Amino acid sequence: MPIINRIAEFHADMTEWRRHIHENPETAFEEFKTSEFVAGKLKEFGIEVHRDIAGTGVVGVLHGEGGPTGRAIGLRADMDALNMEEANSFAHASKVPGKMHGCGHDGHTTMLLGAARYLAETRNFAGTVNFIFQPAEEGAGGGRRMVEEGLFTRFPCDMVFGMHNWPDLPPGQIVVKEGPIMAGADQFEIKVAGKGGHAALPHHTIDPIVIAAHIITATQTVVSRNISPIESGVISITQVHAGSAYNVIPEEVILRGTVRALSHEVRELLEKRLRHIVETVPVTFGSTATINYRRGYPPTVNHGGAPHELATQVARKVAGEDNVLNNVGPSMGAEDFAFMLQERPGSYVWVGQGGSELGCLLHNPRYDFNDDIMPLGTSYWATLVETALPKAA
Ligand code: NI
Repeated sequence: MPIINRIAEFHADMTEWRRHIHENPETAFEEFKTSEFVAGKLKEFGIEVHRDIAGTGVVGVLHGEGGPTGRAIGLRADMDALNMEEANSFAHASKVPGKMHGCGHDGHTTMLLGAARYLAETRNFAGTVNFIFQPAEEGAGGGRRMVEEGLFTRFPCDMVFGMHNWPDLPPGQIVVKEGPIMAGADQFEIKVAGKGGHAALPHHTIDPIVIAAHIITATQTVVSRNISPIESGVISITQVHAGSAYNVIPEEVILRGTVRALSHEVRELLEKRLRHIVETVPVTFGSTATINYRRGYPPTVNHGGAPHELATQVARKVAGEDNVLNNVGPSMGAEDFAFMLQERPGSYVWVGQGGSELGCLLHNPRYDFNDDIMPLGTSYWATLVETALPKAA
């Protein structure tokens, strides 16, 4: 059973919904019309709707034939767009200046709506499915807020599943992966204190630029000397701010940058070593520095066991054995589905959408979600529910 016929029958409807959302992009926690649209569709399908979570978040609750059984799973889609100008000129291009669905969340929302419609019609499963429509995936942590506002206590889920379109893969392919699939991403700002003065009289100053240079150099040893060569990690210092004149040693240097890691252990280690360098290196020069380390999204780590086996089995069923890849490396990008995977076992897959050869990569101004992949993505969701929550034989 590859694509579900009934889903293919309403492909045209889904294309219309997707393009409607694409034309009307809304960003972090301002997905007012999008969430209204989602809630309206869910109600139309006869699904119980909850709208009082994470601002614009929406959860739809549907029981299979025979009502609740105590078993439940969650399926999650993100609804937000990006703050960027769309360069496309087709009819459904963004009507909102400076905002664009450049990551395909319009498609993710639509595919989950499509699955909701099919499952509400057929209810060929036993238990409960929670359709989780989250706001603010692009940096503002809507997934984290849903979890903090009791997503899994209000809507219990034994397992939770996510999906993202992937332009690097051709349409028809699905990547399933055990372990890390996306990186954790943190930010930091370091303030190096000095004692300013005349550049010709450096002995009367404490030069924060020299100290900052030593911090930058020492930082390079963390990934190369402190983490195992088998593991992955990044510390990049991306901003250096200091000074205003040729002949003045400044009072202060500000360094900013980002930390990426694929495991919680490496992330902890990178933060600990970076803090240690910032605390100790300036002391040898008779000065001090402070660090403001802000944790962003944790690594997105897929669980092994049941959720991975389910995702693999269902992907093979809908896409065909040869179209399911399990040997693709993780991405150093970040994803706030990570917060849900920290709470519940689950799995996040990539669905090929093609277009990378045309420059149609995620966050590119010419990007557009590929409507052709909707029957596959929607069939994956529907089959996942029917497989994870089977009716008694
Ligand atoms: Ni995205």
